[in-house]
Amino acid sequence: MTPIDLRSDTVTLPTNAMREAMAVASVGDDVYGEDPTIHLLEERMAEVLGKEAGLFIASGTMGNLVAMLAHAGRGDEVILGDLSHTFLYEVGGISALGSIHSCQLPNLPDGTMDIDQMRLAMRDPDDPHAPPTRMIVLENTHNRCGGIALTADYCKQVAELAAEYQLAVHLDGARLFNAAIALGCPITDLTESFDSVTVCLSKGLGAPVGSVLCGSRAFIDRAHRLRKMVGGGMRQAGILAAAGLFAMEHHIDRLAEDHKNAQILAHGVAEIEGLTCPQACIPSSGAWTNLVYFTVDGAAIGRPEFDAVKLSSQLKQRGVLAHALGSDGKQMRMVTHIDIDSSDIETALAQLRSCLSGT
Ligand SMILES: Cc1ncc(COP(=O)(O)O)c(C=O)c1O
Repeated sequence: MTPIDLRSDTVTLPTNAMREAMAVASVGDDVYGEDPTIHLLEERMAEVLGKEAGLFIASGTMGNLVAMLAHAGRGDEVILGDLSHTFLYEVGGISALGSIHSCQLPNLPDGTMDIDQMRLAMRDPDDPHAPPTRMIVLENTHNRCGGIALTADYCKQVAELAAEYQLAVHLDGARLFNAAIALGCPITDLTESFDSVTVCLSKGLGAPVGSVLCGSRAFIDRAHRLRKMVGGGMRQAGILAAAGLFAMEHHIDRLAEDHKNAQILAHGVAEIEGLTCPQACIPSSGAWTNLVYFTVDGAAIGRPEFDAVKLSSQLKQRGVLAHALGSDGKQMRMVTHIDIDSSDIETALAQLRSCLSGT
C-alpha cells in the first residue's frame, strides 16, 4: 500500500502530463545559453513576479546562496530570522562559502521580525568594530512559523527601512505562490518590495527539480556568474524547466485545495486530546497555507513517555508519514500537497486519533 506521505510538499511525483511536457521539451546547452525552454521559464517567472530577469537554479538553497553572494561580500552582515530556512537549514552556506556574517533576529509567531528590533540591529557604518549591515532576508511563506504567509504591507515596511539604510532585501519565496493564493492578492504585491526573490518549483508546485531567482537585469547577470561558481551551470536542463513551466500553468490555482486540506487537518488535530495545533486557534495577520505544525503532549493523556518521535514511528507503521521535529521531541509537522486528497486527510486523522488513544 502506498503510504500517505505528509512529510513535505517536496515528495510529490511528476504527473504523467508533466512527464510528457518534459519529454517533448526543446533543449540545448544552457551553459552556452542555448536552452530555449530554460529561457522561456526564466522570462515567464520574471514576468509573473514583476522583475526584469530570471535565472533557473537547481534548488532553493542554491538560489538563496547565489542571491546573498550577489548582494553582500566578505565581512558584510545580513539580517535574517532565527527560524528562517536560510539560517537553520542551508548548511551555513553564506558564511562557509561567502564569508557573510549573519545577524539573527527572533522570528515572531507570524513569521515576521520586529521592525524596531531590525532598526536597532543596524550597524554604525563608521564603527570600525562592526561588520557593515548589507541586506535583510525575509521568508514567505514562513516554514518554521507554520507556513504562515507574510502580508504585502509588512514586506513594504521592511523595504522602507532597508531603503533608509541602503540595504538590499531578498525574499526566500520557496512557497511564495502559496502565500499569494492564501492572501488572495496578486503575487507582484508580495514581490515588489524585494530586490531579489527565489521561488521553488519543486515544492507545492509539484515539479521534480528547480527554483528561479528573479531580480533586476544587472543583479541576474551577477547571479549568473555566481551560479557557475557554485557548480550550478546545467546543460540540457530544459527537460527540468519544462516541468516548471507546466507547474506554473497547471498547479498554481490548485494550491487552494492544499490549504483547505491543511485547515481540515489542523482543526482535526486540535480536537485530539494530547495534541495542540496553534494554527487551528490563533488568528493571524497573514494566512495559513499548506504546513501544519502541532505539539504532542504525552503527559496530557497519561503517557508522559509518548512524544512526537514515537507518534511518527507509530504512524509510519499505519501507513502515514510525518516528521517529528525540534530538540524537545514534541513538535510534529504534516504538509499537504498535490498527491494528498481529502480522503487521505480523513485517514491521517483517524490514524492520529487511534495512536493517541492507544488503540
Ligand atoms: C522556506 C524554504 N526555503 C528554502 C528551501 C530550500 O529549498 P531546496 O530544498 O530546494 O534547497 C526550503 C526547503 O524546504 C524551504 O522550506
